[in-house]
Amino acid sequence: MKIVIANDHAATDLKFEVKEYIESLGHEVINIGTDSHESCHYPEYGKKAADMVAAGEVDCGVLICGTGVGISLAANKVKGIRCGVCSDTATARLIKQHNNANMIAFGARIVGTELAKDIVKSFLEAEFEGGGRHQQRIDMISAIENEG
Ligand code: RB5
Repeated sequence: MKIVIANDHAATDLKFEVKEYIESLGHEVINIGTDSHESCHYPEYGKKAADMVAAGEVDCGVLICGTGVGISLAANKVKGIRCGVCSDTATARLIKQHNNANMIAFGARIVGTELAKDIVKSFLEAEFEGGGRHQQRIDMISAIENEG
């Protein structure tokens, strides 16, 4: 898969570790996050990565900030984006199986390196269970998006 990864200054070190790990799984990773520790604004990075996912330039996205929340909030403002914040592997699996999430976020100040890798692996390996009630609920979310 082709995967975009983005981060703010709170997550630069973890970003490099996660990027290398995803590549070791055989995926192509496009890094558009900051590579610096200097303070920056996570909404810019969340939006840029989300735009790439929404445009179909990549298959999915991985977002990291201090908590994972701020950058995911920004990404979820982009039409067509379903990004979930995960601090455990079960949630990472379920956001794909049930919500067909196309982005995942987590916090560099919340999860350690090994857990972050496991979270990403669970997300990438899971598959949307498709059709039925899950698709119906995703369609309901899209309808809310289209109201605005
Ligand atoms: C930056 O200090 C921090 O606020 C940011 O990384 C993130 O945790 C926001 O949600």
